[in-house]
Parts: sequence; C-alpha cells; structure tokens
Amino acid sequence: MHPDNQNRSNQSDTLPFLEAKEVVAKLLHKHLEKSQRRSHKVLQQESPELIADILKLETVFDHGFQNLFELESFIDNYLKHTNRLNNPRYMGHQVAVPQDLSGIPDWIHGTINNPSSLYEMGPAGATLEAFMINWMLNKLGWFKGTNLCDFNTHQKNGSGVLTHGGSIANLTALSAARAAIAPEAWTEGNPSDLVVMGPVTAHYSIARALSIMGMGKNAFVPVAVDENEVIITAHLEKVFQKVKSQNKRVMAVVANACATSTGLFDPLEEMAVFCEKYGLWFHVDGAHGAVALLSENEKIKVSGIERADSIIWDAHKMLQVPALCTAVLFKDQHHQWNNFRQKGSYVFHEDDVIGMDSMPYTVECTKSALGTKLFWSFALKGEDAITQFVENSFNKAKELYHYLNSLEDFYCPYPPESNILCFQFKPNELSDQDQLVIRYQLIESGAFYITSCEVKGKRYLRTVLMNPQTNREDYIALAEAITKIGTELQ
Ligand SMILES: Cc1ncc(COP(=O)(O)O)c(C=O)c1O
Repeated sequence: MHPDNQNRSNQSDTLPFLEAKEVVAKLLHKHLEKSQRRSHKVLQQESPELIADILKLETVFDHGFQNLFELESFIDNYLKHTNRLNNPRYMGHQVAVPQDLSGIPDWIHGTINNPSSLYEMGPAGATLEAFMINWMLNKLGWFKGTNLCDFNTHQKNGSGVLTHGGSIANLTALSAARAAIAPEAWTEGNPSDLVVMGPVTAHYSIARALSIMGMGKNAFVPVAVDENEVIITAHLEKVFQKVKSQNKRVMAVVANACATSTGLFDPLEEMAVFCEKYGLWFHVDGAHGAVALLSENEKIKVSGIERADSIIWDAHKMLQVPALCTAVLFKDQHHQWNNFRQKGSYVFHEDDVIGMDSMPYTVECTKSALGTKLFWSFALKGEDAITQFVENSFNKAKELYHYLNSLEDFYCPYPPESNILCFQFKPNELSDQDQLVIRYQLIESGAFYITSCEVKGKRYLRTVLMNPQTNREDYIALAEAITKIGTELQ
C-alpha cells in the first residue's frame, strides 16, 4: 500500500467515504424521482417534535452514525420531511429549484472547506468568483477587460463580490453609499442628516440594513407607489425637495427590480435620470429581476440598470443556484474599495488584488465557495439554457395570468413582468382572511405550495414560477383546487 494511503481510514470518520457517498447519491436520486411526480405531496407538514423523534436526534447526536444503515435511515427520513421544490406544483418562494447536479459544489466545498474570500485559502473558488463577477459586470457594460478571464484592475472597471444573500448584499451596498457621502461615518458614527429614499415597498432588508448601520429605520423615506406597488417617479422630486427643506441629505435612492410582492419593476431609467440630476447614489435591488439582463426579450424591463451606482443580484433566486449566493456590484470600483475602512493584519495585505481577495470588501470574513456554486449552474448546461430557463419562467407567469383571467372567479390585478403573479379568488365575496385560508388548505393538502402577500393592504395569493416542469396542466389543477376550497368557504 502507498504510505499516503495507509492511514486513510483513520483520517475519515467512522463511515467509509465512497460507500457513504453512494448511499447519499442513491437516496437523493430516489428523492428527486419521487418529488418530480405530481401525485407526490409537495410538503407534508409535521411538528418539530415528531420530526426530532423520527430522526432520533438525541441518539444520533450522542453516538453518531454507527454504520451505513443508520446513515441511510437518517437521510431517508430527513428527505421525507422537506419541501419538495422539484415538484412541478411547487410555486412558492423565490428560491431556486436547483438542477439535479447543482449540489456538487456544496459537496466539494463540504469536503475540502476552502473559503474563497482569501485567494490563498481557495484559489480555484476565488478564481471562479472573479470570473462570474466579470460575467455579471459584462452584462451591465461595467467590464472593461478583454475577456472574462481578465482579472486585472482596469481603470473604469466596475467591481463586485459574492455574499451570503441579498440582505447582506443590500447592507454592503448601502454601507458603500454611506462611505461615498459621509466617509467619516466609519470612525465617528453617522451624521444625523442622512436618509435613503425608495418605494414604500422596498424589501425589508433595506430598512433592516439602515437600522444595523445605526441610522435607524426611520432614515428610510418612502416614496408613494401606484395601485400595483410600482414607484411613482413623479413623487421623487416632491419627496426630495421636502427632505432637502428639512436639511437632510439623500444617501441613496433605492429601486425595486423587481418588487418582492408583485414581481413588477420600478422604472429604472426614469429613476436614474432623477439621481443623475441631483448627483444621488442610485441603488437597484435586483435580487430577483436583474436576471432579465440575460434575455434580449426581457432586458427592456431593467433598462437603465446600468446607470446605477450599486446593484444586488441573487443567484439563488433565478440562476438555479442553491441558496445562498448573491452578487453586490459597483459601477465604480473605488466605491467597493472605500467601503469597509479597516485593517486586519492577519488577512488584509497592502497589495490586495480586487476580485481575488474578496475579504476586505465583504461583511463576512470567512465565506463559502460561492463563485463555484454560481459557475456550476452554467457548467451544467451552458449560458443559453439558463437564459432560456429565465425566459420560460417569465412566460409561465404570463400563461398563468391569461388562464386565470379567462376564469370568472379569479382576479389578477396586473399583467406579470417577471415570474411572480398575484391573484385573488372571488375578491368581492371572500375576505382577506379567506384568501389566507385558501393558501393554508392548499398547502395542508400537499397538492400545491404557493405563497401570499399584501398589495396595497389587500391580501393576495401569490405564485412564483421557479420550476421548469410546471405547465398548463398544473395551472388548471391549481385553479380547480382553489375553486373547490374557496367555494366551500362561502
Ligand atoms: C427584492 C429583494 N431584495 C432582497 C431580498 C433578500 O434576499 P435574501 O433572501 O437573499 O437575503 C429579497 C428576497 O426575497 C428580495 O425579493
């Protein structure tokens, strides 16, 4: 035996590596196969106590898996108590339905643990992140390199980093906006005159970021939205003048691309013109909808996005990447460099290479190999297929909209612009609470998983069409199931 291999079993845990992986692979394969069957429940809700009991949590915790059989039994039971996003009747939250092999990077990362925020701690992961950031910057026209493998810091280049989720990404972008208008805030704390303007429907992570930054959530000054919760750009001027008359300074103007509730896009071009007129930082929350950039047909919806100063873009929503993976992107790379004004002698070096050592530019210190997960989505089937997935998802919402509108008892308030659609069943006869009851009963039945939200104070059912397998047959079955539940409520 080669001396390097002699101690192999001592290094590993009690379970043999290849056999354990095979057990997991087989169970996942079975899980996917079952989940994709419409006849299978999307979600079977049980109490946490029952799940803990079925999984024998205390025993496993105390003694660990004793053999492959225990591992198998645990994973089998674990998978039985999950929300099956792969079921075509999953139409719930804005969480990617991964491709079958999307989990490979998480497996590799979990095996080698190379946090990619320091190049030397994960050179391959850091390189993939830099490559994917270049790809995103290129979509925005913010990349000045010769090809996506050009990792040099070109003048006038944009820049970006991957973070663990849109909420941290929004915090990162707003922090950079503050560094631009009030660089002294880093050491001395916030000046009291800074505010952020944006649609009243901005994602809650914006107000949360302002609170975390010590500005208080009241630093968010809402701008009115129309009946479908799209910002009324004519009100920007009015709100801005009022803010100025109170001797406040606007740190940033935030846009939804698209809104979490309705999936509708704020008019970015008009907002960009306004921000440019007054020299204001323009932040686009493109967590869900920045992906429209991929499609020649859909990119009109984010027209003007390239005029923003900062953008966030969740890959774990519409790029089929398992959670979490978000990009925060800056048109001017200096804004990224100037964001966090700290030194950490054990990790930050004077000659930081942007895009490689991402640690100085992220809220996180250690982070996982996010670029690898993102790259993988494309590696599995190529960019054209991802673009097609985005277009198909957007088209599915249009199809569902037309179908529901053809039925007398359904009301959809607006034609969808993304893959999110809100609607009500018999809004004149059923209350807001009834709409919620419809959702609960639908989920309880296991036949569908949908969400709900409020639009202008009224309760709607909400579908987010994330699953490539969802089709007309599912829309018909959904409408029938809702009609049955809703009719019994009357
Ligand atoms: C517009 C918008 N911004 C930010 C977020 C937060 O993203 P994350 O869930 O990745 O933290 C969401 C989540 O749905 C969103 O819709």
